[in-house]
Amino acid sequence: MLITFEGIDGCGKTTQIKLLKEYIESKGLSVVTMREPGGSDFSEQLRNILLSSRHRVGARSELMLFEAARANLVDTVIKPELERGKIVICDRFYDSTTAYQAFGRGLPLDFVQKLNLFATGGLTPNLTIYLSISLDESKRRTSRPEFDRIEKAGDEFFLKVIEGYNYIARQEPNRFVVVDASGSRQETARKVRKVFDKFFEGFPK
Ligand SMILES: Nc1ncnc2c1ncn2[C@@H]1O[C@H](COP(=O)(O)OP(=O)(O)OP(=O)(O)O)[C@@H](O)[C@H]1O
Ligand SMILES: [Mg+2]
Repeated sequence: MLITFEGIDGCGKTTQIKLLKEYIESKGLSVVTMREPGGSDFSEQLRNILLSSRHRVGARSELMLFEAARANLVDTVIKPELERGKIVICDRFYDSTTAYQAFGRGLPLDFVQKLNLFATGGLTPNLTIYLSISLDESKRRTSRPEFDRIEKAGDEFFLKVIEGYNYIARQEPNRFVVVDASGSRQETARKVRKVFDKFFEGFPK
């Protein structure tokens, strides 16, 4: 089973994945977590290139590097772990590319979606948890001295990214579950556990 977490910077993906992993493990189930871009040696190197502010990267090269990193992660880590029967939780997956590269950067949506599925070899998440917060809340949570290349994009860009996530939520309401993540860490964790429990109950064993 593949579960992915999505949302703008600072929405709490990393925090909530750690808490959900502990919760699932407390039920005696085996979980592996990873992040995108990254999660394999090759893809972590692409991550450094993608997020470094040293490079001027155009939207098309950005898109293809994300997909290259994703294809490698799927082939070398995600699929083998799923075959071992693990619950795989990934911090971002192809919905990020739909939101950031199609809606944010303005690349053609249908092409980005095709490329997403090409990169994953058709693998789609069984459940995606979208942690929804406002742009103001995102800024409050991510105030740090150095932003990476993508974090440096302006408000207009991030509003389009949010619009992209809302679009996916309307298109795929069963897979892509919106969780209001504006409350405390524990409040959000309770909501996430509820979503997981409901999904897990209905998942064919
Ligand atoms: N519910 C919350 N309320 C307040 N602060 C939070 C909450 N959840 C997480 N934080 C804090 O906000 C910051 C961002 O959280 P986190 O790293 O989990 O988000 P993220 O979605 O993984 O961000 P990024 O996309 O940048 O990796 C961290 O400092 C974290 O401790
Ligand atoms: Mg994170």
